[in-house]
Amino acid sequence: MTTARLIALDQILFVLVAAAWAATAGVALTGLRQPAADGRRTRLIAAALCAAAIVVTALRVAGTLGLARAGWWFVAEKVTLALPLVVLPALASAVVSLPRLLRAPSGGAPVPSPRLVAFPLLLTAYGAVAGVACAVVVSSPVTAGGAAAVLALFAAAAVVSWRLLGPVRAPHYRWQTAGTGVLALAVALAVGGGRPGGTPHSGHDGGAAAPGLSVDLLRGPAASAAGGPAGARPRVRRFTLTARPAVVRLASGTVDAWSFDGQVPGPVLRVRQGDLVEVVLRNRLPGQAVTVHWHGYDVPSGEDGVPGVTQDAVAPGQAHVYRFRAEDAGTYWYHSHQDSSVAVPRGLFGLLVVDPAVPLPESEDHLLALHTFGTRPTLSVDGAAPVDGLARLALPPGARARLRVVNTDTRPVVLGLAGAPYTIAAVDGGDVPGATDLDGARLHLAAGGRYDLTFTVPSGPVLLTAGDRPALLVNGPSAPPAAAGPIVDITRYGAATAPPARFDQEITWVLDKTLAMAGGLPKLAQTVNGKAWPNIPAPVVRLGQTVRITVVNRGTDTHPMHPHGHHVRILSRNGVPATGLAMDTFDVAPGEVWEVALTADNPGMWMSHCHDLAHAAQGMEFHLAYEGVGTPYEMGGRNRPA
Ligand code: C2O
Ligand code: CU
Repeated sequence: MTTARLIALDQILFVLVAAAWAATAGVALTGLRQPAADGRRTRLIAAALCAAAIVVTALRVAGTLGLARAGWWFVAEKVTLALPLVVLPALASAVVSLPRLLRAPSGGAPVPSPRLVAFPLLLTAYGAVAGVACAVVVSSPVTAGGAAAVLALFAAAAVVSWRLLGPVRAPHYRWQTAGTGVLALAVALAVGGGRPGGTPHSGHDGGAAAPGLSVDLLRGPAASAAGGPAGARPRVRRFTLTARPAVVRLASGTVDAWSFDGQVPGPVLRVRQGDLVEVVLRNRLPGQAVTVHWHGYDVPSGEDGVPGVTQDAVAPGQAHVYRFRAEDAGTYWYHSHQDSSVAVPRGLFGLLVVDPAVPLPESEDHLLALHTFGTRPTLSVDGAAPVDGLARLALPPGARARLRVVNTDTRPVVLGLAGAPYTIAAVDGGDVPGATDLDGARLHLAAGGRYDLTFTVPSGPVLLTAGDRPALLVNGPSAPPAAAGPIVDITRYGAATAPPARFDQEITWVLDKTLAMAGGLPKLAQTVNGKAWPNIPAPVVRLGQTVRITVVNRGTDTHPMHPHGHHVRILSRNGVPATGLAMDTFDVAPGEVWEVALTADNPGMWMSHCHDLAHAAQGMEFHLAYEGVGTPYEMGGRNRPA
């Protein structure tokens, strides 16, 4: 069974276990309160329920053991908390309660020591319910606060029950008071577990007082100051992007969008490797601040466009200038990073293409941006207006073609290319060494990710599908059958390159959905190591380090993880060695474990987050900080990156 299935099974089982023990305890209490003879049937039903509860508990233990094979991260809180809390009292129930429920007291005699019979059953029920709470409150690593919260609730319930099962006395208000106190304490501890630990927010809060370098000084070269190789001045490419409202017209209706320059996608910024790019951002959007982030482009940190980290959000009427040397060739995109979970879906994005200094062999080079407006998936070809029907492209047969496919959505998409064998020439902007031919195979493209697909234009038609939808027909008139082959494992594609020989630091990100403080309120958040933004401690790296990052998805959602400012090399997925492709957005599916290598070669303060932008807004974002680098900007208030 896959890890994702085991996670789902575990969730079903812990609810079943809780229900089974609660029912057992409830029925047993009823049976014990009735006179011995009358209650006999009820007690036998309780005994049967108890036996069933023992069976589902055993199943849960087995499921957890299965899950443990995928790694400790998946079971940490189950093994240390949830299971002991139910298994130990379940054993007591089996030994103490079950035989006594089955035994028939003779004649009208009362059941001996009902408190002794009922108490283990109640304890087991509490333990089972605490196990459910555990799943919500505690992630991996297990925090003292989260564990204490669960234990406090369990202990309080146990004490109160013991009292209530005893001889009837006058009501004790102190017990109610104590219970309320414990409840408050538990909530405080659970939420406290979501607060920062270690070096919180490292380097961020320091601001001007922080020793060392401000991100503000890590800017691109000014046009006049930039010297190219051998002192040659680079070509300067100047662009202006004006954020303003726009109406997008689709066959299915119109969309009120936010745009750069009145078009969605925004203007294609196409430059040559080595150029100095200067972009003036102007904001004419009423009531909405913006920035520009260069997705996948490893610019100097001060040009990264993250409000509250590398700049202040650009308010309506204001402007901001970005400058960077286009050192890396490839397919990239840009988008606003202010309220990005709203702004990007609404249209504040465009494509960035850097042509290599040495021209590519493909004479036909086209840009395909996939974007969903609400529930309407569209495709824009070469920066033109998006089309929600079938887009068309005419290419000369025999020519070499490159299709640069960009997923600007917050969900992954399965692509199919039918009608010609093709190769994935580039992933996330970087060339794939030893790219092999694929025929009919489909591709999984992460949210924010890019694939350059190359092929020789056949005499017949070629069809690109996105999800179930025919998106682009090359050289109609009629489309060939959609590609239906297996999905390529991108981590195993291309020629393998040697992984780094050693790592200077190990970092683990356990992704989950747990109760945590997020944006000042306790909520069910998308968490990293049990915490949500802004309480996720910033991993701190040192310039020059090679860092191994292990990313574990314990949850049931896919997380396209996107560290800014760096491409990471994929080392392995689920323990299977990868070819070592460099990616800037990699899709960690439920139950998966990815190991990636990050080379700390771009000093700064780097936002890192899930590119399912709604998840980022629900807490799954944090910084990667370089030792000695601080920022004068502040998140919160006017700066809202997600
Ligand atoms: Cu395209 Cu911080 O993201
Ligand atoms: Cu996510």
